[in-house]
Amino acid sequence: MSLFSPRSLAGRTALVLLVGLVLVQVAGLTIHALDRVDLQRLQMARELSQRSFAVWRAMLMTPPERRHLVLADLDLPPGLRASYDEDPIARPGFPPPPPPLIRLFRVENMMSAPLRLRPREVIIAGGSRPGVMLASLRFADIGWLNLRVEMPPPRPWHSETFLIAFVLMTLAAAALTLWAVRRLTRPVRDLAAAADRLGRDVNAPPLPENGPYEVATAARAFNTMAERIRRFVGDRTQMVAAIGHDLKTPITRLKLRAELLDDDEQRTKILADLEEMEAMIGATLAFARDEAAAEPSVPLDLAALCRTVLDEAADARPDFTDRIAYEGPEHLTLRARPVAMKRALANLVGNALSYGGSAKLILEPANAGVVRIAVEDDGPGVPPSELESVFQPFRRLESSRNRETGGTGLGLPIARNILRAHGGDVVLRNRPEGGLAALVTLPA
Ligand SMILES: Nc1ncnc2c1ncn2[C@@H]1O[C@H](COP(=O)(O)OP(=O)(O)OP(=O)(O)O)[C@@H](O)[C@H]1O
Ligand SMILES: [Mg+2]
Repeated sequence: MSLFSPRSLAGRTALVLLVGLVLVQVAGLTIHALDRVDLQRLQMARELSQRSFAVWRAMLMTPPERRHLVLADLDLPPGLRASYDEDPIARPGFPPPPPPLIRLFRVENMMSAPLRLRPREVIIAGGSRPGVMLASLRFADIGWLNLRVEMPPPRPWHSETFLIAFVLMTLAAAALTLWAVRRLTRPVRDLAAAADRLGRDVNAPPLPENGPYEVATAARAFNTMAERIRRFVGDRTQMVAAIGHDLKTPITRLKLRAELLDDDEQRTKILADLEEMEAMIGATLAFARDEAAAEPSVPLDLAALCRTVLDEAADARPDFTDRIAYEGPEHLTLRARPVAMKRALANLVGNALSYGGSAKLILEPANAGVVRIAVEDDGPGVPPSELESVFQPFRRLESSRNRETGGTGLGLPIARNILRAHGGDVVLRNRPEGGLAALVTLPA
């Protein structure tokens, strides 16, 4: 986003405050400058008129033949030039002098001076340039004192220290603004981070409920929400466990009754079905138990975990060893629950080996905040219409029904459950070159 329309709250607030600060400073500076210019003009005009009058007086005291010399010795302020001539430089036909100069210069003071100081004649006129005033004062004996008055341009930034102090003050105020805004918006960032953590791990630690009132209230509300989510998940898991547990007794009873059946064929079938039900319940209970254990999230070397999962799968099926491969970095650290993560990956690798006859695990380092794992095999894949439905509990495809390798149909739902609890997901895709790929994403 550009500098002038930042997306962050801190950026926007800082921009508004800084623009406000600049406007206030510019206005303050302008008021100061105008005031200063006014004052300067008044002071300069006073000085010019006093000095002109002083020159006039000095010349009056001097005999005409020495006036040139005296004038040359006089030290005049900038903007004032004086000469002693036979003729006036101001002539009645000239344009009028600039009004502000007349007002400030106060020629009329000359005319109200005591008689012996009063010039015989005064002519004032405008000069060749605007802002210039010519005044010619005639001596009683001979000659004219010609004055050329030009107000030097005002210097509003007269003092350097003032400017430096002003810039420093502005910079300090800007720095303070940026700091304050960052500090004030930190709780929002913290809240976002906490929400993100909760998405990856329901058991993430609660937010500290301190700080300003609004922040503490938001943190408390967030913690209450997290607690409710935790309780909701916990209640559901507990319910699953309770149902599974309660089903065990009637199944045991049914098994005992089935043993008493006379029909051999029926008895074998019923006992097999009951066996399957028991396996399903066992898997359900195992899952519920693991869920309830609330394993903490820790920094984990995912690359090492992937290799362990593959090694253990190879150990379990020695004849598949040369059809198991790993591709990826040596190390990749990630926050995760180790036992759960291992279980999810082992399910995917187990499926690839059981139904695809091979397993290749590809670990891709974090890219745009996402770590990807693909588990590929060279088997028959899954019909496109079943790619999602196999994630339903106990959902197994017909082809794998009668295999002795077949499990209970909880592997994929459990894997997805675990990965989603980490803020990630898993989906299945048929590979164009044949076989299935289980694609795992995890937040880095
Ligand atoms: N790599 C694969 N290739 C072909 N079919 C697969 C593959 N992975 C899973 N399936 C199909 O999806 C079904 C569900 O898999 P899932 O892992 O959930 O259960 P399972 O492997 O049958 O049992 P469990 O994993 O609980 O021991 C499997 O029965 C199988 O039919
Ligand atoms: Mg499985």
